[in-house]
Amino acid sequence: MPISLKDRLLDQPYQGYAYAYPHKTAYRHFEAPIPLRDLWSREDQRSLYLYVHLPFCEMRCGFCNLFTTTNPKGDSVARYLDAVDLQLEATAESLGDDFRFSRGAFGGGTPSFLTLEEIERLFSSMDQHLGNLPAGMPLSFELSPGTVSAEKLAYLRERGVTRFSMGVQSFIREETKALGRPQSISEVREALGLIRDAGAPVMNIDLIYGAEIQTIASWRESIVEALKYSPEEIYLYPLYVRPLTGLEKIGRSPADHRIDLFRAGRDLLREKGYEQISMRLFRKIDSVPEDAAIEGPVYCCQEDGMIGIGAGARSYTRDVHYCTEYAVGKSGINEIIAEYSDRTRFDHSHAIFGCHLTEEERKRRFVMKSLLRIGGLVLADYEKQFGSDAIADFPELSDLIALNLGILSPRILQLNDSGFERSDTIGPWLFSTSVTSKMEDYELV
Ligand SMILES: C[S@@+](CC[C@H](N)C(=O)[O-])C[C@H]1O[C@@H](n2cnc3c(N)ncnc32)[C@H](O)[C@@H]1O
Ligand code: SF4
Repeated sequence: MPISLKDRLLDQPYQGYAYAYPHKTAYRHFEAPIPLRDLWSREDQRSLYLYVHLPFCEMRCGFCNLFTTTNPKGDSVARYLDAVDLQLEATAESLGDDFRFSRGAFGGGTPSFLTLEEIERLFSSMDQHLGNLPAGMPLSFELSPGTVSAEKLAYLRERGVTRFSMGVQSFIREETKALGRPQSISEVREALGLIRDAGAPVMNIDLIYGAEIQTIASWRESIVEALKYSPEEIYLYPLYVRPLTGLEKIGRSPADHRIDLFRAGRDLLREKGYEQISMRLFRKIDSVPEDAAIEGPVYCCQEDGMIGIGAGARSYTRDVHYCTEYAVGKSGINEIIAEYSDRTRFDHSHAIFGCHLTEEERKRRFVMKSLLRIGGLVLADYEKQFGSDAIADFPELSDLIALNLGILSPRILQLNDSGFERSDTIGPWLFSTSVTSKMEDYELV
């Protein structure tokens, strides 16, 4: 029996992050491998999103459950890049002649963990198999403070990277230690200076709120420090302590006052000229040309038509999502990376693990992805996509209005401030019972 929104509001706000629906823990092995050629032949391939996953980091941060490993041994990065090359080749063959990318991102892990030579190798594989990416296409690259260099940044700018994103988490040394990410604040400052000097149109800084020792004053201090670099974007992430992470193993919990920290951060950023795009993302007003905004408008469900390259990267067609298998623990992740590096051309041309999205799941995904952002759920866009009315399909959406979390104005359902700060309650509330039960049954390794 699904839990009503009213009951969910009685619980603490941070019930789950709905950034990708369905979550990977709802994926399963397909009955038989599905040829990518069949999957993609049904799709519009003129505006694809390219995502390349590099699952390597200098250290495993205590809060992090992303698909990544540390200390790759011997030639494992080189073997991984060989596999990326083969996957790019097999994918391009499966797509046919007319595909075009219109935005892209390198994520991880830490893409800047690669040496300059390895980054060059990666771009040359892309050149060879994907051809020229459109000039000026929004292209994002994630960095960490200890792996940034002026040479890497200059090369990436030359290759068209328009957005650099770095996780800082906090400018207070004790807080980064409490988050399980001890880092030198002077190294962070140096890295931010280099990134700003590299001249990309968009710089993003990630901060985390909710370490047990954090106060409203120390949180504001971190935001003020971040603002000194005039980032076009800032992400404020609430701390989650997730299964199998370092913080969970030592029994840490997030602070109880995360919502107060969130409000303090939101109000400070608004005061400094930032607008709230989603619960986590704030953007400096008028700083990012719409075509350079990686997140882009969401009404078209922009993530459908995503080609994920690398172990851990998801790919999305309209009705099938797929990726390599999923793990959080070190040995599980290393096994999946090793298996990925040994894949044959046949393996790279087939989807083996993922989920089929029914029409109902596609509708839920659309509602979630648009409602949890500033533009809201435009009823006409939904109707154009699905031929039906969103409120008639999901009558429970009117609870948002009854509970003062949103407004219907006249054809757009939008969250208000109270709704946005409960995004991590509203997201899981919108999950279907079938996805929720698959997520609960998943055995995490
Ligand atoms: C792709 S990751 C990090 C990129 C890069 N590897 C780094 O750490 O600088 C994006 C962001 O998610 C946030 N994040 C990851 N796990 C989190 C958690 N358990 N709680 C809160 N924020 C988290 C962090 O702010 C992190 O910088
Ligand atoms: S937060 Fe970033 S640097 Fe830390 S382990 Fe996760 S992906 Fe790696």
